[in-house]
Amino acid sequence: MILKDKIALITGGAGGIGLATAKLFLEEGAKGVAIVDFSRENLKKAEETLGSEKLMYIQADVSQAEDVKNYTNQVKKEWGKIDILFLNAGTEGLVKTMEHYPEETFDQVMGVNVKGVWLGMKYAFPIMKTDGGGSVIITSSVAGLRGTAQVSAYVASKHATVGLMRVGALEGAADKIRVNTIHPSPVDNRMMRSLEEGFAPGMGDTVKENFTKMIPMGRYASNEDIADLALFLASDKSRFITGATYVIDGGFTS
Ligand SMILES: NC(=O)c1ccc[n+]([C@@H]2O[C@H](COP(=O)([O-])OP(=O)(O)OC[C@H]3O[C@@H](n4cnc5c(N)ncnc54)[C@H](O)[C@@H]3O)[C@@H](O)[C@H]2O)c1
Repeated sequence: MILKDKIALITGGAGGIGLATAKLFLEEGAKGVAIVDFSRENLKKAEETLGSEKLMYIQADVSQAEDVKNYTNQVKKEWGKIDILFLNAGTEGLVKTMEHYPEETFDQVMGVNVKGVWLGMKYAFPIMKTDGGGSVIITSSVAGLRGTAQVSAYVASKHATVGLMRVGALEGAADKIRVNTIHPSPVDNRMMRSLEEGFAPGMGDTVKENFTKMIPMGRYASNEDIADLALFLASDKSRFITGATYVIDGGFTS
């Protein structure tokens, strides 16, 4: 029960990684977990899976300031504090070379993956400061550490989160707010199915096989693998860790 009495907020909380993490946080004693997501359909499924005891479901677009103000204030109002802020909402955009990549998709990916993270810290920091600090975990990707052709917006956005994390770590340290990024390799969930299909329409399985061959440990990550890392960073076990990039990739970037 290493999250006993903690209040957590997870953006993209109704997606693959977010939902697995919410479940784990509850198992580890969290007093409340707010699941913030854009997709009403995912939120409905999340509620069917996890129920509503100790949970709050908030529909919000993380790229919109008003929505971010609302979700942070709602958690503060209902539960009094935010100990753990898991900025995990993300979108993959399209698979196209830069010369063919639509500008509006580039802006949309940056809006969710970069501005969404910036807004999250902007509006949660004042709340976290007043109650002894806490842990901010940002889901970047191995795409935040190296390039992959045809996913320029995603790669740029995930690199940008590292910069935001470093600034957040410096600005938050005096108030005991820790900020770290996590960098998963492919995770076996919806987002990878979408990317596999984008790389080779109708041949997603072959793309998966080829990606898997590039991972020394011989498999994709599971949502639960990532949740376990988020748990460590959310808990006081990581109390002196801030400003760090945590690769979780079965050796992919080694
Ligand atoms: N799946 C992977 O292979 C992989 C690898 C590395 C990093 N990531 C990152 O992990 C994070 C979680 O993704 P996932 O793998 O669980 O995929 P997912 O698609 O299952 O979950 C993403 C969730 O974010 C939500 N979301 C999207 N745009 C939003 C917005 N504007 N406002 C609020 N919510 C929004 C979606 O509705 C969805 O529920 C993302 O940041 C993603 O980039 C995923």
